This record gives sequence, structure tokens and C-alpha cells, in this order.
Amino acid sequence: MTVCEYSPGLEGIPAAQSSISYVDGKNGILEYRGIRIEELAVKSTFLETAYLLIWGKLPTQDELSEFETDILYHRRIKYSIRDMMKCFPETGHPMDALQTSAAALGLFYARRALDDPTYIRQAVVRLLAKIPTMVAAFKLMRKGNDPVQPNDDLGYSANFLYMLTERPPDPLAARIFDVCLTLHAEHTINASTFSAMVTASTLTDPYAVVASAVGTLAGPLHGGANEEVLVMLEEIGSKENVLPYVEKCIANKHKIMGFGHRVYKVKDPRATILQSLAQELFAATGYDDYYDIAVELENVIAEKLGSKGIYPNVDFYSGLVYRKLGIPNDLFTPVFAIARVAGWLAHWKEQLAVNRIFRPTQVYQGEHNLPYIPIEARVVAIDSNGNK
Ligand code: CMC
Repeated sequence: MTVCEYSPGLEGIPAAQSSISYVDGKNGILEYRGIRIEELAVKSTFLETAYLLIWGKLPTQDELSEFETDILYHRRIKYSIRDMMKCFPETGHPMDALQTSAAALGLFYARRALDDPTYIRQAVVRLLAKIPTMVAAFKLMRKGNDPVQPNDDLGYSANFLYMLTERPPDPLAARIFDVCLTLHAEHTINASTFSAMVTASTLTDPYAVVASAVGTLAGPLHGGANEEVLVMLEEIGSKENVLPYVEKCIANKHKIMGFGHRVYKVKDPRATILQSLAQELFAATGYDDYYDIAVELENVIAEKLGSKGIYPNVDFYSGLVYRKLGIPNDLFTPVFAIARVAGWLAHWKEQLAVNRIFRPTQVYQGEHNLPYIPIEARVVAIDSNGNK
């Protein structure tokens, strides 16, 4: 075994061999199973893309229809899961509600047969079908309202918007939302996918795999950034304030949300597509004043930080699109999770075929052979400010 140098954040360390997706960060290229994201955004649908990611090939018409029908059939959640969700605090973050609910699925579907393709397919279908229903249900239940039942006449994305907003969305909104899901479906081994893979490597159930990935996606350096972007745009407030805001952030070494990426050193191709979706949506449904601030921010950051490879990432324009679609701010990251379930499951399935439990090593920095000091002999350390 080759001994690698310690790399903080595991930067540059391969953790798997994979054929699910490919990112070229210098040239801004993203492919799912070899197909460019720009092509999938225009020609595919989220469910077809999920099938492609998980089963490694584009489905035939029959395969796709069967997959869509299976998912439609499994969208409802059990009453006991809804009852459980009713007990969640209304102030709880929807990502925490989602993590708990996803983990709870493992209690209700406890059979685990990781070598049975029928079991694998059922788990994939259940997770893709039920996660959107749970996200929408919590949105209504935290206000004391009953959740809206899935509508069998609506497709995957239209049905989610319907359950969320309690009215059928117009076709443009449903299509744009579906493209957003496709764009967020997979992105190689990022933090949440790695989390899914580590959990999966113990051969636990897929609901635990997805729950642990949801917990990882929630953080502001990962999926949580999309929520923070709108807060930041509101704080900036006007185009004139953009330059002083950026200068202050740089001087104080504050990260600007929605910018920078471990892999992309140019504008994230998904941000480019999301920006044009935002423009399309605004042209049809009315402008968002914060869009001008966002564009100005992108320009100022290109000038100030472009030399470091800091450009908009996927989270920068997504919030503006989601807000226009009627999605509340704190549901942006759960929406990211709805999409990313496809990628997590693709990695889960790929890894099962060649599984080895993850067990990295560490560079120990501590001491050795210290004596055990009895409690009455221990001295309280006090720093120069008098703090214990
Ligand atoms: N604003 C200002 N400076 C930045 C930013 C930013 N958003 N991102 C990176 N930098 C600077 C950073 O200060 C550092 O400069 P220096 O070399 O002078 O110290 C340099 O660029 C490298 O940054 P890093 O933090 O070492 O890079 P990383 O690869 O560890 O972090 C990142 C990547 C995404 C965590 C980081 O860019 C960041 O915190 N961005 C803001 C949060 C965000 O938008 N996250 C969403 C990521 S994309 C979607 C997803 O993964 O979920």
C-alpha cells in the first residue's frame, strides 16, 4: 500500500473508482455517465436522469414508464410517519426534519437484502418517491396544516410544487424546477456523497445512507450555502453596496456565499444554466430586484477574486429561481437533497458491487505514556486573559 501525505479535507485523494459523473474544474465541464449536463438539462427529465445515474444507461421508453409509474405509486407516506412528523418542533430546520424522516423510513421498511436487485430497486423507488412528499409535508405541518396528498395526475416535479404550494404549478414552473433537480442530481464525491459512501460501506440500510448524507448536505459550506445567498443579497440591498460589501469580506477573510468550489476554478456550468433559467422565469413571471445585485456581485468578485479561481457555484443563482417558484428560503437545501438522492443512491449501488469498509488512517499529533493524575491533584489551567 502506498502511504500518502496528509491532505486536509482529503483534497486530491481518490476515494473510489467511479463511472457515475465527471467534473473538469478547469474547463467548467460536468458529465453524468458521459453525457454533458447542458444536454441533459435541455433534453432529459429528472427521473430519466436519475435512472441514468443509478442504472448507468438511458432507459428505454418502457423502462422509463415503469420507473415513473413505480415512483408515482410510492409517493404517499405512511400515517405513522406523518404522525411522527407532527411532533417535530415547528421551529426546527426542514433539513433536520428531513434527516429524521429519511432515517425513520428504515424502521418501516426494515428488510435489508443488499444482494437482491429487487430490494435495491424498491429502496431506490421509495426514497426518490417519498423524500419530496416528506419535505412538502413538513412545510405545511409546521404551520399546523394537514399535508397535501400527492396528485396522481401530476409528474414528479409538478407534483412536488403542488404539494408545497397547494395549487398545480404552471407548466413552465414545473419544467424549470425539473431542470433544477437534474442540475443538482449528482456531483462526484463531494462531502455528502462521501458521507453516503462511508455509511454505505458498513452495509447498513439505504435509508441510513441517505439520512447521513442529508445531515452532511445541511452545512453552510455545502448545500446550506443556497439559503445564505439570498440572506446575503438582502443584506447587500443595492448594486451600489456590492463593492464595499466584497471589500469588507475580503479584508475580514469572510467567505462570500455561493462562490468558490473545491474543483471548479471557473464558473460552475450549473450556475450558467441556472442563471439562464432565472432569466427565463423572470421574463414570464416578473423581475426579481435582487437579480441585478447578484449579477453585479458576480462581476465584482470576478475582478477581485477571479485570479484565485473564485466564481459562482451552483448555489449562487438557485435561490433566486426557487424563490420565484414559491419555495421558502429554508426549503432550498431540502430541495437540493430531493435531487441529490439520485446521486447518493447511484454511489450506494456502485459501491455495493465492490464494497470495502472505509477506514482511513490519521497522523497522530498527541503525546504518549503520560501518567494518570488523580482528580484532586489536577491544576486548572488559566490563560493570559484569566479564562479557565
Ligand atoms: N469567498 C471569498 N474567498 C473565497 C471563497 C469565497 N466564497 N471561497 C474560497 N475563497 C478563497 C479562500 O479564502 C482561500 O484564499 P487564500 O488562499 O488566500 O487563503 C482560497 O479561496 C481557497 O479557499 P478554500 O476555503 O481553501 O477552498 P476550499 O476548496 O477548501 O473550499 C468552498 C471550497 C466551497 C468550501 C469555499 O469556496 C466556500 O466556503 N465557499 C462559500 C460557501 C459555498 O458557496 N458553498 C457551496 C459550495 S458548491 C455546492 C456544494 O458543494 O454544495
